[in-house]
Amino acid sequence: MDKKRIEKELNSQLNNEFFSSYLYLAMAAYCDSISLPGFANWMRSQAQEELFHAMKFYDYILERGFKVDLLKIDQPEKEWGSPLNMFEEVLKHEQFITESINNLVNVAEEEKDHATRIFLEWFVSEQVEEEASADAVLQKLRLTGGQGSALFMIDKELSTRTFTPPATNE
Ligand SMILES: [Fe+2]
Ligand SMILES: [Fe+2]
Repeated sequence: MDKKRIEKELNSQLNNEFFSSYLYLAMAAYCDSISLPGFANWMRSQAQEELFHAMKFYDYILERGFKVDLLKIDQPEKEWGSPLNMFEEVLKHEQFITESINNLVNVAEEEKDHATRIFLEWFVSEQVEEEASADAVLQKLRLTGGQGSALFMIDKELSTRTFTPPATNE
């Protein structure tokens, strides 16, 4: 097992999760700037969830006796043009994250690192949920045109989202 390779890949995904949090927080700020507090709330909850994902990697890296390497976090965009464009980017981003998790599973399999493969299973399922929830909002925006009173209704709906970290079975 190439431990250095696993360590590097885990730290790179740790960075991806921190970037995701940063991206959704930037989207929250954008939503607030265009007076969509419900959308901003959804993004804020998503940003918190991504921090939770990052910390899961952080804890796992330490648990395995690897070194945490906090890499530089890229600066996210500030503007997305419209809520519809923004959610298209959310879905694209989650598809990118799914791909990076899948690559990580491939590396764990190549290195015969069963512990890492099993650790990643939670993320494989989580990505199905992440893509589905982004797509659900995107479909609503597409169907309604994402303007006027329809946008107002969706904003109201998104205002109810909260983030509670799932209980761990440790
Ligand atoms: Fe994530
Ligand atoms: Fe999620």
